[in-house]
Amino acid sequence: MNNRKFILDKRPQAQITDDLFKLVTEPLPTLKDGEVLVRNQYLSLDPTHRIWMSDMEQYMPPIALGEVVRAGGVGVVTESKSPLLKTGDLVMGLLGWQDYSLHPAAALRPLPKEMDIPPTAFLSVLGLTGMTAYFGLLDITAPKAGETLVVSGAAGAVGSIVGQIGLIKGLRVIGIAGTDAKCAWLTKELGFHGAINYKTQDVKKALAELCPKGVDIYFDNVGGATTEAVWSNLNMYARVSLCGMISGYNDGKPIPGPRNYSLILMKRLKVQGFIVSDYGARWPEAIGEMYQWVKQGRIKYAEDIVEGLENAPRAVNKLFDGSNTGKLILKC
Ligand SMILES: NC(=O)c1ccc[n+]([C@@H]2O[C@H](COP(=O)([O-])OP(=O)(O)OC[C@H]3O[C@@H](n4cnc5c(N)ncnc54)[C@H](OP(=O)(O)O)[C@@H]3O)[C@@H](O)[C@H]2O)c1
Repeated sequence: MNNRKFILDKRPQAQITDDLFKLVTEPLPTLKDGEVLVRNQYLSLDPTHRIWMSDMEQYMPPIALGEVVRAGGVGVVTESKSPLLKTGDLVMGLLGWQDYSLHPAAALRPLPKEMDIPPTAFLSVLGLTGMTAYFGLLDITAPKAGETLVVSGAAGAVGSIVGQIGLIKGLRVIGIAGTDAKCAWLTKELGFHGAINYKTQDVKKALAELCPKGVDIYFDNVGGATTEAVWSNLNMYARVSLCGMISGYNDGKPIPGPRNYSLILMKRLKVQGFIVSDYGARWPEAIGEMYQWVKQGRIKYAEDIVEGLENAPRAVNKLFDGSNTGKLILKC
């Protein structure tokens, strides 16, 4: 039995391309006491792959050259030398771009058996992106009913959940996304009050029309020109949850700040970045609440599943050309 794995061979200068990786085939490892072998089933493809593959200043060590590409995932235990997990258990953890992965059993979380939901949900709505939406909105911005929320990257894995949590909390919710089809999905399917196509509309003007009382909360997934346009519509004392800046990840150089940075001062804005792993200890509480919202039909989630480990380098670019709707996942 062999394992195929993608090794990072070079760092990207712009887009992620096939030649950055080596696809290596090697025999399955032998387990030591306390370890388990996992057959990886679903891998999470995330914008942060582009960050981890670079050597820019970041929130955890970059992937080292020669190392398997880091990725969260869900898989099934196929062999165990630990009392903590047994063969057949479904688990999640940092599995990597490979068919099989070896772990100390304590490094993996078993999937909650009592939740009647497909395992991919633990990579999307009940996983990294759902948790990002939950804590990035509720904890960072403390929303109050009646306020206006704007979310960029609104039809994506994080953004679509942010908007729906906003609706549950009684906010007026406006989404910004890159196609008319995504905007229609936000307003017609998810119940957003409005949506703006940033590729065809003047975002600053459209927001002023859609938000006559101004914007109280901005959940920022993209940075760049969209952020400048939203900031111009923010109210005094507005709160900004800085979640991501995908518009600049492929630039290969430091991302410049918004040209209207002075608005932080003029409008007394509160701008806070966060990383979802900061909230690791509180994930069970959030997963429980989000699961209830999904079961009650108050949160809908979309997944975009690409098949085949060998397609990982090309599939991840769907995040950057906008061809994903909802959580991008690779089925091994
Ligand atoms: N802070 C954290 O802990 C944390 C955790 C997870 C994710 N994030 C961040 O959250 C953001 C969303 O991540 P996700 O996993 O939910 O991805 P996603 O939104 O499902 O997919 C990425 C989307 O970004 C949009 N996009 C791509 N290039 C863009 C550009 N140049 N300008 C504007 N939009 C662009 C595309 O949508 P359009 O068609 O609308 O352009 C694309 O579908 C990312 O910035 C990511 O880094 C942060």
